Amino acid sequence: NHLDNNCIAIFGASGDLTRRKLIPALYHLYATKQLSASFSILGISRTEYSDTTYRTKIKESLIVSEKLEDSEQLNEFCSHIHYQPLDTADKANYAALKERLAALSEQYLTAGNIIYYLSTPPSLYGVIPECLAEHGLNQNDDGWKRLIVEKPFGYDKASAVALDEQLHRFFAEEQIYRIDHYLGKETVQNLLVFRFSNGLFEPLWNRNYIDHVEITSAESIGVEGRGGYYDGAGAMRDMFQNHLLQVLAMVAMEPPALINSNAIRNETVKVFQSLHPLDEKALEHDLVLGQYTASKVRGEPLLGYREETGVEAESSTETYVALKLSIDNWRWNGVPFYVRTGKRLPTRVTEVVIHFKKTPHPVFGQNTPDNKLVIRIQPDEGILMKFGLKKPGAGFESQEVSMDFRYDSLDGDEVLTAYERLLLDSIKGDPTLFARSDAVLACWDFVQPILDVAQSNPTRYGYACGTWGPKEADELLSRDGREWRFPCKNLTDTDY
Ligand code: BG6
Repeated sequence: NHLDNNCIAIFGASGDLTRRKLIPALYHLYATKQLSASFSILGISRTEYSDTTYRTKIKESLIVSEKLEDSEQLNEFCSHIHYQPLDTADKANYAALKERLAALSEQYLTAGNIIYYLSTPPSLYGVIPECLAEHGLNQNDDGWKRLIVEKPFGYDKASAVALDEQLHRFFAEEQIYRIDHYLGKETVQNLLVFRFSNGLFEPLWNRNYIDHVEITSAESIGVEGRGGYYDGAGAMRDMFQNHLLQVLAMVAMEPPALINSNAIRNETVKVFQSLHPLDEKALEHDLVLGQYTASKVRGEPLLGYREETGVEAESSTETYVALKLSIDNWRWNGVPFYVRTGKRLPTRVTEVVIHFKKTPHPVFGQNTPDNKLVIRIQPDEGILMKFGLKKPGAGFESQEVSMDFRYDSLDGDEVLTAYERLLLDSIKGDPTLFARSDAVLACWDFVQPILDVAQSNPTRYGYACGTWGPKEADELLSRDGREWRFPCKNLTDTDY
């Protein structure tokens, strides 16, 4: 499994994401010998660290977050880490960066292969590529150059288009890796394998047999000190526009002609392009936006959203979205997709529920159990199938039973975390699990009218912390004679 030697240059090196996700992911890849034979990591940000002080900071944080001992292995890893203080917005500064990168390339024999990781505020996404290009640091000829961009990819359709143009002025699409960490989740990738490698399920995966689909991504945490960012984003931009639509694409796409990045991503784009556009009238019925209010959860008093630090006192930012949508194509015509996400819900869970149609004629009475397939993205990753069997005893009544599979029952390699997988793929040069430009823009096309409606009507339904969102979200389904599944922490539990 040959990997090119390379340097990973992280812009925003003193930030939260670098500490919480990127460095731990790189450490695990290193500790499990999955990185290239020689590599260096260059932290870049405004703070004046030296190599030594930055390494100490990283080491201390790894010891705490990964529960590590101070070991030779850890020191060896940290010795690959370097630091360059830089005012990222100042072009002149990049001459020093260029020299530094050249010196590291020589020291680590990385042949000029560089990944630039933009882990900065989005306001710098345009500036950094431009400054890099000014110094020829975007050129693929002397070693490859790749650019990893974190979400948000724009604030709305117009800014997403502008960002895209800006990036493309300096980097080719093949060089750009837009991270959506949900695509890095093993269970999200499995949606494809599960669907397209089983003759048992795929024939049923369409409007003829599926009644409706539910996608839930619930979090029990609130905004966790990120009020300043979140208040300008909201659940639509933070979760729906990217993570949930990507999951939806995996559930709904057609089989790709080939297993390669373009073939797979061509199919996801088609799903986004087939989303039925929602006009103002449809949104009046099919969209529920909520905001959590103060409440006690298991004895603990929790703040309402508007009381959180960094959040406007009169904020109308949504912390909950429920939406009914449909896909205009042959496979999904007439099948509603109900999608919801929110903060401060009862538990952390992401799952897809496929509800199958009932049998054409209820031979054994009206109370036949529903046939459903619950695909658990996280936690307690697995798959649960629910169907009916004969209730033992006289007569022919049926009862619901289940069959389940759990990931933790699999032997073999440890599952990579999303960031490990995505960092590894970017080093390999495999963009399959990264959002392509046309996909991102197609998602914005669908989301923009929703944002417009949300802005023109700032009413948000309140829901108490620790509940499953506003009652209006239940009505969204009950109106159609359906109800949400109430997922628990464990896949098969039905009670909290
Ligand atoms: C991030 C959002 O992209 O995803 C956060 O900005 C959210 O608000 C997080 O909490 C959820 O990710 P996960 O992997 O914990 O489901």
